[in-house]
Amino acid sequence: MGKALVLCYSFEGNTFKIAKAISAALQIDLYEIKPVKDLKSTGFSKFIWGGRQVILQKKPELLPITIDLSIYDTVFLGSPIWVGTFAPTIKTLLEDGLLHDKKIAYFYTHEGGAKNAAEKGKESVEKYNEFIGSIGLLNVMKQVDVCTKEAISWAKHIIDIK
Ligand SMILES: Cc1cc2nc3c(=O)[nH]c(=O)nc-3n(C[C@H](O)[C@H](O)[C@H](O)COP(=O)(O)O)c2cc1C
Repeated sequence: MGKALVLCYSFEGNTFKIAKAISAALQIDLYEIKPVKDLKSTGFSKFIWGGRQVILQKKPELLPITIDLSIYDTVFLGSPIWVGTFAPTIKTLLEDGLLHDKKIAYFYTHEGGAKNAAEKGKESVEKYNEFIGSIGLLNVMKQVDVCTKEAISWAKHIIDIK
């Protein structure tokens, strides 16, 4: 079995909490990607700023990734849901081929508005990678323990079947 990695973007820390829990439970590496330009989360304006990026289909430039992605064959990829889909940073990662030829298990955190999020994730993953599963975690902020447990058991299952 090759090496696995948890790779995530998290604007306000929820997705990162889940990523950290998966990384600890499976004893695999963890890396958080960041865009060159992120915004401080100040009230409602974050929705306008972030929503605009999604609607305009922006692929923001990422800060250089300082780990060697080529050593991993499986990636647990985590994103918050913005306007029904993954965050723009993840779009950069997947659609510009920064991440390629991996088995990708996609997890996303949301607050109930993620109807077609799994399908959209799968579609983008499959441009350069193989999609091996997904899970949505609802309201991480309010029920972090429930979400963490759910995510860990999902991740263990993925590792067993892949
Ligand atoms: C710009 C923006 C857009 C969002 N759009 C949605 C959405 O469409 N559906 C939803 O359920 N939650 C939406 N959310 C809420 C986040 O998905 C949710 O709080 C997530 O857990 C945040 O993860 P993070 O703390 O890792 O950034 C949005 C949040 C932001 C900042």
